[in-house]
Amino acid sequence: MKGAPRRRRIPGALITGVLVLAWGAAQADVAAVRAPAQPAPATARSAARPIHKSAIASAHPLASAAGREILAQGGNAFDAAVAVSAALAVVEPSSSGLGGGGFYLLRRADGSATLVDAREKAPQAATRDMYLDAAGQPIADASTDGPRAAGIPGEPAAFEYLARKYGRLPLKTSLAPAIRLAREGFPMYARLQSGIRYKRGNLLHSPAAAKVFLTQGGEPPQIGAMIKQPDLADTLQALAERGAAGFYAGRVARDLVAGVRAGGGIWTLADLAAYRVVERKPVTGEYHGARIVSAPPPSSGGVALLDALNILSGFDLGNFDPATRKHVIIESMRRAFRDRAVYLGDPDFVSVPVALITSRAYAAGQGASIRVDKAMPSDLLPGVDAPPGGMQTTHFSILDSAGNAVAATISINLWLGSGYMVDKTGVLLNDTMDDFSAKPDQPNAFGLVGGSANAIAPQKRPLSSMTPTFVTTKDGMMIVGSPGGSFIISMVLLATLNYVDGMSAADIVKYPHYHQQYLPDVVDYESGALTPEEITVLQAKGQKLKEGRRAWGNMQVVTWDFASGAVQAASDPRGEGAGLVY
Ligand code: GLY
Repeated sequence: MKGAPRRRRIPGALITGVLVLAWGAAQADVAAVRAPAQPAPATARSAARPIHKSAIASAHPLASAAGREILAQGGNAFDAAVAVSAALAVVEPSSSGLGGGGFYLLRRADGSATLVDAREKAPQAATRDMYLDAAGQPIADASTDGPRAAGIPGEPAAFEYLARKYGRLPLKTSLAPAIRLAREGFPMYARLQSGIRYKRGNLLHSPAAAKVFLTQGGEPPQIGAMIKQPDLADTLQALAERGAAGFYAGRVARDLVAGVRAGGGIWTLADLAAYRVVERKPVTGEYHGARIVSAPPPSSGGVALLDALNILSGFDLGNFDPATRKHVIIESMRRAFRDRAVYLGDPDFVSVPVALITSRAYAAGQGASIRVDKAMPSDLLPGVDAPPGGMQTTHFSILDSAGNAVAATISINLWLGSGYMVDKTGVLLNDTMDDFSAKPDQPNAFGLVGGSANAIAPQKRPLSSMTPTFVTTKDGMMIVGSPGGSFIISMVLLATLNYVDGMSAADIVKYPHYHQQYLPDVVDYESGALTPEEITVLQAKGQKLKEGRRAWGNMQVVTWDFASGAVQAASDPRGEGAGLVY
């Protein structure tokens, strides 16, 4: 690209070695604040805990209510997860849906955990260079707009898998609230209205989407107008009656493929028929006695979270002044995001060195390169501006009274996904193909760069930042996650540190965020996240600060205190969600 800074790809391990040499001079400072010996990790579950209530936190009150309705009918957390996901597909179509996918982190009542990977997959006809022009340059908007940007959805397959393997209720029961909401409608609200206004240009090119999300005059509906989605209700009904086959085969599948191809996409019936969720072992680690369980690749979320926490384990954050504490956390983010860019991709296609990146020895090398007095410049690899992290994607947290828990982060990627709804299905297509690296080191919509590990290939899952996470201490447990693209990882990192420090669920969700993702070499922060004094100190250390024009994230947290049985459910006040204790 003419005039663009040239990028150099430098292997992470090499960078670490260079940094340790270059920055090691300040290690006397670091040694003074090394962490004390860590307490023993919390056990997954101790005996004889008091009876506790169920709790749900999600991004929309109607979705939380759908989950509660299913718990009241004898469903467990996994049935409720189906109900909440399906309801969000209806009432928060800007953020997730049947046309998308995501990650369901499950905790069984015995404390064991697993992850259902329902991430979208590249169609069989996808090619490495499909979003590049003849000169090898990215074609503007090609990986974000219209059906060609859509991967094969995973969320409908997750519904059947969760219900069959882990739930107690049939799909037709768990999907009933969502079907009702799609048929009877829900009232338009401000955040969805602004998402529609932002994506209006795309929606106007998709008659089915325009029919649902725009007035006859082509404008977003007024606040409070009822949004009805009869085609989506029919598709949900097909799922309720036939399970995954109601979506991936038969009438709905034929309509999906015909609609995608009519819009220039490349899906086939075989792509849909071949889609399967994958059950994966979560990544696990410890931070100051807390046990962390999170999403493994193809999400980068858990690995980057553990990478940062392992680095921070080498410091006693409580001993720092507030600005230096934030500086060290920012430096841990910088290093974790660098590893994300270099190493991570779909583990079914590339070898991801998870054990290495999440090891204490590796973190010690990373930590040794951190100077408490000075930011490490990222300008070895020049960056570009990232858009403000938004509320694309959605998260919900559920705990049932038996101790089953779900942390689910699900998505159609950017606001209203690709902006294309397939006629007769009510399915709004994702634009998750943009989460691949269309070109090595070319930033995607979140300003994230990646290498060949995340290159496009048929049937491959694009790398994600979604970070559904369980944090367990000896006293209790937090179920946490958030939307926000690359910012998700930093938000969950801050939430983890805050929970370990004893913060309540309500304070964790409203905590002001800051974020560093290696490239661009900038610390984004929300208004109020840094005091004027902290800004002065961080700038003096060399941090390049950029205040965001708006808030980001929509965190949903459930906490459970083991001794008292008290549970809390908190929904981020930046959104309009609801935390219910039932
Ligand atoms: N689509 C956003 C992510 O998965 O990171």
